[in-house]
Amino acid sequence: MAIWKLLINLGLLFITTAISVDKDSNNDTAINYRLPDHVVPIHYNIKLIPYIVKDNFTFDGESNINITIRHVTQNLHLHVLKLTINEAMTSLFSNNGIIYTPAMHNYDNITQILVLHFNDKLLPGNYTLKMRYVGILHNDFYNKEGFFVASYINDKGDDVWLAATHFEPTYARRAFPCWDEPALKATFDISIKHHRNYTVLSNMPIREKSEDNKNGMIWTHFDTTPIMSTYLVAFVVVDYVRVPTEDETINIWCRSELVPHTKFVREVVQKSKKLLTEYTNSTSKVPKMDLVALPRLAIGVNAMENWGLITFVETSLAYNESFNTISTKLNVARTTVREMAHQWFGNVVTPSWWSHLWLSEGLAIFFEDYILNQVGSISFICI
Ligand SMILES: *[C@@H]1O[C@H](CO)[C@@H](O)[C@H](O)[C@H]1NC(C)=O
Ligand SMILES: *[C@@H]1O[C@H](CO)[C@@H](O)[C@H](O)[C@H]1NC(C)=O
Ligand SMILES: *[C@@H]1O[C@H](CO)[C@@H](O)[C@H](O)[C@H]1NC(C)=O
Ligand SMILES: *[C@@H]1O[C@H](CO)[C@@H](O)[C@H](O)[C@H]1NC(C)=O
Ligand SMILES: *[C@@H]1O[C@H](CO)[C@@H](O)[C@H](O)[C@H]1NC(C)=O
Ligand SMILES: *[C@@H]1O[C@H](CO)[C@@H](O)[C@H](O)[C@H]1NC(C)=O
Ligand SMILES: *[C@@H]1O[C@H](CO)[C@@H](O)[C@H](O)[C@H]1NC(C)=O
Ligand SMILES: *[C@@H]1O[C@H](CO)[C@@H](O)[C@H](O)[C@H]1NC(C)=O
Repeated sequence: MAIWKLLINLGLLFITTAISVDKDSNNDTAINYRLPDHVVPIHYNIKLIPYIVKDNFTFDGESNINITIRHVTQNLHLHVLKLTINEAMTSLFSNNGIIYTPAMHNYDNITQILVLHFNDKLLPGNYTLKMRYVGILHNDFYNKEGFFVASYINDKGDDVWLAATHFEPTYARRAFPCWDEPALKATFDISIKHHRNYTVLSNMPIREKSEDNKNGMIWTHFDTTPIMSTYLVAFVVVDYVRVPTEDETINIWCRSELVPHTKFVREVVQKSKKLLTEYTNSTSKVPKMDLVALPRLAIGVNAMENWGLITFVETSLAYNESFNTISTKLNVARTTVREMAHQWFGNVVTPSWWSHLWLSEGLAIFFEDYILNQVGSISFICI
């Protein structure tokens, strides 16, 4: 993610801190935003059905989360934001077949933590938490956060809608209930139901598509991810065109009008992947790489390094030779190399908390210059 987005976030943090110090009725430092450490997630199995229907952008969700309870407890704490949980369907399955249902769901809208209270004492061990919910595909024109919709105008002059995600730092909780802290890494199985005229992409390659011939709907199931932070999970539902790099190892996805302007990004991404693989002597831990050009992302973000599925705003991916300036070209190169560097620096090793984010952003920015310098010597950055 770009550094000035971070500066905005830090700025907002200072402003809100300043406001709350003025009103001592709202003592912000007394609020504990962190999850307790008696439960850790191991694996998320998430099934989502987005309804990309104008005036009613919603989605249905179902999650089965494998968790380890480390100390005896009667409460499970996890993050949720703007999801309507079907409380009657929430249940916890112990490994030896006992089913617990929470006596109460308690939500704190300041910390965004949902607490499930159980009457029984839950002993240490492995459990599966099952939840069902309905969420909103957010349709804020400028700020694309969580699971959102966006649109572009096609060559016939029609609005075409798509859905995509942006989770850094704390918006995964808008798409599924989760332990939404960077250190609480887990593996993810993502499945999405969609109309057959859309393409669905996520961090991992497609494992299986199951036809559900009713109304032309399809389930796309993705392979299990490596162990990773929630903020790096991503999925998109688009009607885009696929443009592979020359060596066919990376795909660019964009609306058809942009295809002629992806030549430059394809060249940069292929070179930077080769150079980063050589430098680190390791291939990326995710087996494929897709770059997707979206009409918009969150305010101030020009790209996001989701593992295996980098999202860009169109203006940071497309370079129109007969129209754009050298500064646009340089921005495309910089953004691409930085997000590729993150696939190693940040995604494999992640800071345990946001106050140390400089570790991953700092290294990615260093390698942006270091690698770009070598990419540039191949000839095409001329300033
Ligand atoms: C806020 O709460 C913390 C912890 O309870 C306390 O140490 C601090 O003095 C309080 N600050 C104000 C301005 O009330
Ligand atoms: C909105 O979509 C949901 C999910 O398909 C559906 O249950 C609901 O009836 C729809 N509401 C309206 C007003 O169309
Ligand atoms: C998750 O739990 C289910 C049983 O509820 C089990 O079949 C599955 O193997 C577990 N997956 C992982 C990754 O632990
Ligand atoms: C939290 O809920 C209370 C009571 O419903 C409401 O007054 C308040 O505005 C909410 N705060 C946030 C941050 O949503
Ligand atoms: C719980 O799951 C973890 C991770 O899959 C595993 O290492 C551990 O052995 C399991 N514990 C029990 C008691 O089954
Ligand atoms: C896909 O098909 C649905 C149902 O026919 C239609 O409403 C929607 O506009 C189509 N979307 C695209 C991107 O073609
Ligand atoms: C690169 O990795 C390979 C395989 O893991 C290893 O055999 C080799 O020694 C490594 N090279 C360097 C320079 O670290
Ligand atoms: C690229 O630039 C040309 C010349 O200004 C313009 O006609 C064309 O619409 C641009 N293409 C896109 C996709 O913006």
